[in-house]
Amino acid sequence: MTQISPRKIRQLGLFVFLSVTGFLVIYKFSSNEFTNYDEGTDLDAEQHEAAHAKALDDISSRLKDLEIEFANLEARVPKKYPQIKSLNYLERKRILITGGAGFVGSHLVDRLMFQGHEVIVVDNFFTGRKRNVEHWIGHKNFELIHHDIVNPLFIEVDQIYHLASPASPPHYMLNPVKTIKTNTIGTINILGLARRVHAKVLIASTSEVYGDPDIHPQPETYWGHVNPIGPRACYDEGKRVSETLSYAYAKEHNIEVRVARIFNTYGPRMHMNDGRVVSNFILQALQNDVITIYGSGKQTRSFQYVTDLVDGLVALMASNYSLPINLGNPVEHTINEFATIIKDLVGGSGKIIHLAEVEDDPQRRRPDISRAKKYLNWEPQVSLAVGLQRTVDYFRKELKKFNYSSNNKFIPERPA
Ligand SMILES: NC(=O)c1ccc[n+]([C@@H]2O[C@H](COP(=O)([O-])OP(=O)(O)OC[C@H]3O[C@@H](n4cnc5c(N)ncnc54)[C@H](O)[C@@H]3O)[C@@H](O)[C@H]2O)c1
Repeated sequence: MTQISPRKIRQLGLFVFLSVTGFLVIYKFSSNEFTNYDEGTDLDAEQHEAAHAKALDDISSRLKDLEIEFANLEARVPKKYPQIKSLNYLERKRILITGGAGFVGSHLVDRLMFQGHEVIVVDNFFTGRKRNVEHWIGHKNFELIHHDIVNPLFIEVDQIYHLASPASPPHYMLNPVKTIKTNTIGTINILGLARRVHAKVLIASTSEVYGDPDIHPQPETYWGHVNPIGPRACYDEGKRVSETLSYAYAKEHNIEVRVARIFNTYGPRMHMNDGRVVSNFILQALQNDVITIYGSGKQTRSFQYVTDLVDGLVALMASNYSLPINLGNPVEHTINEFATIIKDLVGGSGKIIHLAEVEDDPQRRRPDISRAKKYLNWEPQVSLAVGLQRTVDYFRKELKKFNYSSNNKFIPERPA
């Protein structure tokens, strides 16, 4: 398509403006003429009104045409994209990211786009958002497909990062059957695709496969302690089946699988309603609200910054290691500590309060990352202070963008 410079567009905009103004002036004159003419003839009031209405209709239809013309011209202004690396056709891969419009997926999209690959995102936008990847829309290396992976997908790719699944408790508990379908039928569809096109596939599993662990920290050899009928089971068991399916396909159909057991991750583009401690505490602190801790606050969590996770996922895909690998930050904090750190970082006057604990809430979570260190040469690099600051800045902007005020607060969801 011919490209038009922004200067030309401005000139055309001016032209449109002048045309409309001219049109209105002519209309004004002609309506005066109508009036004068009316006065001198027997044209009755009804005819007079009809003539006016017709003239107005003509103007609004002409305006609509001009609006469409203007929008078409605007669409032809070349969009500026971030600079990417140039790869030759032997190095450049076609990479599918399911769930690529979500929090983690969109950061992975950025990384692979910057590296110069062709990236295809498939997402049903349940928790993902177009604006997480909008800066790539229209780029020749990028494609966004609205599709639910519970339905089969036919596409030619070299690698697949399979991330599609709601990840936070309020989201995956909202429709437990759909969560199970996404992680079972959806995973079968993705593994089937990998088999058909001989693609290497990385499955985003989770630390939740360990349930409420009775050994600490959790190595990959630990089989877990999961309640199969509890409120989190749709996700925990769904991911466990997802892992089982991966190794069954690898064995039976000889496909290359990689399994990442991801621990709690945080960073910009997290969903406002993620419902986990980092986003809840930050949002409460930014709005000068009370910070709510469920239970005693002595339960621990370890959080990794999203770019560290992306480093780990890319390293795992590139590696020859096929057993599950923990990707998480082993630095452990109690929930009470997190509340204090975030409150100190954000400032504000909100108090910290304790409410009743949440059912099946794991008491301790910390990855043993010896495998990732040994086989991927990977360990987290971003400190909690730096990562939290970037996340606070992101949420502060989000709150401003949507005009949240003291009368119009964003109330974070209680973890289900
Ligand atoms: N963020 C974490 O702390 C964390 C921890 C452990 C595991 N994980 C795993 O990492 C992956 C990404 O998590 P996230 O934090 O980015 O979550 P997210 O909710 O932001 O992203 C998930 C994406 O998958 C999409 N999706 C959901 N169901 C789908 C379906 N049926 N078809 C197509 N798209 C669908 C959503 O719209 C969303 O864009 C998930 O598989 C999650 O289980 C994340």
